[in-house]
Amino acid sequence: MLVTSKAILEASLQGYKNGKPFAVGAYNVNNMEQAQGIMKAAKETLSPVILQMSRGALKYAEDKYLRNIIMAAAEVNPEIPIAMHLDHGNSMETVKRVIDLGFTSVMIDGSLMEDSKTPSTFEYNVKITSEVVKYAHDRGVSVEGELGTLGGFEDGVGSGKEHLTNPDEAVEFVEKTGVDALAISIGTSHGAHKFKGEAKIAYDIIEAIRKKLPDTYLVAHGSSSVPAELVEIINQYGGQMEHTAGVPMDMLLKATQYGINKINVDTDLRLAATAAARKFMAENPSKFDQRDWSGAAREGIYLEVLSHMKAFKTAGHAQEVPNWDLEYMKAQYR
Ligand code: G3H
Ligand code: 13P
Ligand code: ZN
Repeated sequence: MLVTSKAILEASLQGYKNGKPFAVGAYNVNNMEQAQGIMKAAKETLSPVILQMSRGALKYAEDKYLRNIIMAAAEVNPEIPIAMHLDHGNSMETVKRVIDLGFTSVMIDGSLMEDSKTPSTFEYNVKITSEVVKYAHDRGVSVEGELGTLGGFEDGVGSGKEHLTNPDEAVEFVEKTGVDALAISIGTSHGAHKFKGEAKIAYDIIEAIRKKLPDTYLVAHGSSSVPAELVEIINQYGGQMEHTAGVPMDMLLKATQYGINKINVDTDLRLAATAAARKFMAENPSKFDQRDWSGAAREGIYLEVLSHMKAFKTAGHAQEVPNWDLEYMKAQYR
């Protein structure tokens, strides 16, 4: 079943308010095997799930192939609430394009300019985000904005300069834009190299923002755990990854207890797929059917997402998400 992020994240917010916090993972999808691996874990654990696509993903797989892969996931899994979400949208043009494709949820990352690298001003961020909110809400689509900037340059997303979110600015931003969800900068960054020393999350910032914005869904980007065992497998079978560091799962669960509702994970799926494919190829040097190593990668993704769904306590919450249709969602925004 295809739903908005709002429908899914409201269940998480209610969990927090009732003293049973859980977060929903938003996993990046670029192809069929990734979508299948994620959905196998969601089905097995009865977890609601956000399948998110970056502009890079839409370019790689082509808009309609990717849209139809997600539609297939929804058709095959009617019992699982799925949001079809744009990750790090950079302009009104991209937002219109994906809403035309049938996306139920968009992120406009106005913390950076359209190049997704240069930090923007607060005023620019408010302006672009408000325009997107107006356009998307009129069409029943939910919106995630971002305030504060993540460190790191990985994947072409990020300014390289960390700027943690200011809680008072967050209130002003949400009031002025009307976003449903807010991505906040709390010390994490994209990619496999997040910390030089010990991993740190600014729990005090989550706590302050949660207190001031009790009804806004809070989002943590750059939240892969970068499991050492996956990096070890990659390196054992010919990879060369050095100095990797992620956010340990127990810290993410703690962030959920402070009020985070959505946790973005991409790098861990990349690692899981690469580890499984490298291992498969090294152990089966004579095989050359793509289905063999792509199938191994799909299984690796399934196992990784399964561990996230359990760690974030998403498992078992699928049935709490209300049934959704477009008219219902439009009414939510009137
Ligand atoms: O935040 C970035 C995501 O990991 C997507 O990365 O733009 O390389 O698809 P990508
Ligand atoms: P990771 O690189 O930590 O997986 O973060 C992904 C992300 O934030 C996608 O928006
Ligand atoms: Zn991100």
